[in-house]
Amino acid sequence: MHAAQAFRSRASHDRHVSSRRAFLLQSASATGAVLAGAARLHGAAADLVAGMATAVVWPPAPTPVWTFGGTYPAPTLRVRSGERIDLTLRNDLPAPTNVHWHGLAVPADMDGHPADVVARGGSRHYGFRVDARAGTYWYHPHPHGQTAAQVYAGMAGFLIVEDEEERALGLPSGVHDVPLLLQDRRLRADRSFAYEPTLMDRMSGLLGDVAVANGLADLRLPVEAALYRLRLLNGCNARVLRVAFADGRRFLVVGTDGGLLAEAVSATSVDMGPGERVDVVVDLGGEAPGRSVSLVSLPFAAGGGMGMGSAQGAPLRLATLDVARPASARTALPGRLATLARLDGARARRTRTFDLTMGMMGTSAAINGRTFAADRVDVTVPMGDVEVWEVRNLTGEPHPFHVHATSFQVLDRSTARTLPPQDLGWKDTVLLWPGERVRIVLQFTAHRGLYVAHCHNLEHEDAGMVMNVLVD
Ligand code: C2O
Ligand code: CU
Ligand code: CU
Repeated sequence: MHAAQAFRSRASHDRHVSSRRAFLLQSASATGAVLAGAARLHGAAADLVAGMATAVVWPPAPTPVWTFGGTYPAPTLRVRSGERIDLTLRNDLPAPTNVHWHGLAVPADMDGHPADVVARGGSRHYGFRVDARAGTYWYHPHPHGQTAAQVYAGMAGFLIVEDEEERALGLPSGVHDVPLLLQDRRLRADRSFAYEPTLMDRMSGLLGDVAVANGLADLRLPVEAALYRLRLLNGCNARVLRVAFADGRRFLVVGTDGGLLAEAVSATSVDMGPGERVDVVVDLGGEAPGRSVSLVSLPFAAGGGMGMGSAQGAPLRLATLDVARPASARTALPGRLATLARLDGARARRTRTFDLTMGMMGTSAAINGRTFAADRVDVTVPMGDVEVWEVRNLTGEPHPFHVHATSFQVLDRSTARTLPPQDLGWKDTVLLWPGERVRIVLQFTAHRGLYVAHCHNLEHEDAGMVMNVLVD
């Protein structure tokens, strides 16, 4: 075991998270899928402490981090669809914070609205039923103006929802189901996560020069020669990833933000904006022990981040899978995956247009000309109405557009004749390339109340590319 992984699993025994309800808590181990240290927790008072800690990102020296539950990444929460999450957030940080359950439709007062924060020293109960399809979701802080710094400092974790329909498919599971939190960090002499955005960073988003996966630079995962499900999460503040394998091998895209696709789609790369998840299945079955397969982000051209090596679109090695032993179990992939209800854009009650714009120096990151104001409702959407939202990127750099409180489907893109695999399922975040127009169809059906929609480039979000959405 890697020294940092050993450190990490020891640290996970001191975690402060538990649940009144039975849900599976995984240690935030570097492999993500290691179930050692995982436990079904019953009866205990549930605490999720937001506090400072250290984590080994670049072994052997520790890096000071801000955490949920004492670890970076935050503990992986596994919950069955229909079960409850009940946690009390205790804020031991020197700043206000909160929790947003990215991708879940929860009551508005549980959603971590940017203005609904827990003061330092305070605490707050988060309790709700998880009404979501099986899939890969995540949680992170969302205090207005401070989200970028807090996520960058280490506060992000997986929330994995499971259900019987998915289990019955026999997809790779257990050690063959690996959540991968993909982030980038700026390499500093003191190896700290100090968040010091330049003017350029505030404008285009802070890009790191090195990849950190599941909290480790140069993550190496010992794997079997078998099928693997990789739950990819782009947890970068601002970096768009074009995820591929270094040897160009094909893989199957099986899921998006909101769970499984109707059927698997073959691909050699997949684009992911910050906030997006893509579940893929890769076949390492033919590999001899001793082989290594790297997961990379391929180079591409896009606006923004004109810095040197760290520019948007720069190539990165994300993680390496080291084939260590033959398969312990055989899995085959089913042809059909899940039933995917389709929202019909032609049935929409109305179409709304949202223009994403930016002024010089990031001072006016805006949606429809407005910068976020916590007490102004920007859009009121009647509960249950099907709507088409036409989002237009009028800038020269990419923006991942994210909607709270419901999932949506992508209808079309102005720059693509056919939709890429990551657009084919339920989503809550969609990437807009420079100058692109994307039409999505959505329907709020879960809860009334005040939510937000925003750019998930966290520097843009903190600069106010956020709007209040009232579901009424
Ligand atoms: Cu992941 Cu409103 O955010
Ligand atoms: Cu969200
Ligand atoms: Cu943006």
